[in-house]
Amino acid sequence: MSKTGLLSLIWDGENLEMLDQRLLPSEIKYSKKTTVQEIWESIRSLEVRGAPAIGIAAAYGFYFAAREAPDTDFESFWKYLKEKSDYLASSRPTAVNLFWALERMEKKVLESKHLPISEIKRLVKEEAEAIHREDEEICRKIGEYGLTLLRDGVGILTHCNAGQLATARYGTATAPIYLAHEKGWKVRVFADETRPVNQGSRLTALELMQAGIDVTLICDNMAAMVMSKGWVDAVIVGCDRVAANGDTANKIGTLGLSILAKYYGIPFYVAAPTPTIDLGTKTGKDIPIEERNPNEVTCSFGRKTAPEGVKVYNPAFDVTPAENITAFITEKGIIYPPFEENIRDVINC
Ligand code: MRU
Repeated sequence: MSKTGLLSLIWDGENLEMLDQRLLPSEIKYSKKTTVQEIWESIRSLEVRGAPAIGIAAAYGFYFAAREAPDTDFESFWKYLKEKSDYLASSRPTAVNLFWALERMEKKVLESKHLPISEIKRLVKEEAEAIHREDEEICRKIGEYGLTLLRDGVGILTHCNAGQLATARYGTATAPIYLAHEKGWKVRVFADETRPVNQGSRLTALELMQAGIDVTLICDNMAAMVMSKGWVDAVIVGCDRVAANGDTANKIGTLGLSILAKYYGIPFYVAAPTPTIDLGTKTGKDIPIEERNPNEVTCSFGRKTAPEGVKVYNPAFDVTPAENITAFITEKGIIYPPFEENIRDVINC
């Protein structure tokens, strides 16, 4: 699988170089993050976005907190860290990778409490690095499993950006596409623009083009037309949180696509790293859905595109019911229905 392309996060051993995804595709700008506050703001503002990348950034944010925490005694150290961890957790509500990463970091600290604080700080850094490294491995395996569902000449529709930019490398929904391309297969990708923030046009179209993959950009309301023409053999999307029963939160618009795919008899796959599967969330109804600033809807093309004062509803995610999902592509294999028990088996194995 290709090792090239833009990376959203680059760790230099002590600080995090972060690509400002808000500026893409016009400008490629990295900036150094060294504090918890900077990480919180970057997650909140979508400078870094995509469930796995948010989790990785938060893990490094936790390390920044540990680095500056008082080291007089464990109680003061832990109190400071827990406060910062809770603060990082307040940056966005839907992608469970944020909470998963912070919980994993907290667990590392608590199980090392008998060690000198300087040693705990070292372990915290290693844990953040492990989360970063493991995400790359997870994505590569999702690519390998996902490839078994594709064939030469396949047409794929994807939504939002579940690509390299949203992860450590390779992406989730894009990983099988990169692998198929590398094999020399012809793959035709339709990328939904993904209003209101346009992750599809700004990010997915960019990274697939940079990789030399045949990508066609469509507005979200063109997906039905493209499917009706028989150009889509599979829909592959990413996810922000998969509930225990398989209901899945992903970028707003995913639910509509799943309904269309069902109507047209097109397989609907969710590329799901296991850290995005949350057995603690029973069903889609229990997934908190982020609502974002109305400006995202009323301002496009750098100017106002709606009348001043208009009422706006701007949920950033929707929930696709499990019954609309053909299968989950995870790093541990492909999960088919019945989801409730098969997801549990895969997570617990
Ligand atoms: O609001 P965003 O850009 O963070 O939303 C991202 C998505 O919905 C992605 O599809 C999801 O996080 C999966 S990324 C591998």
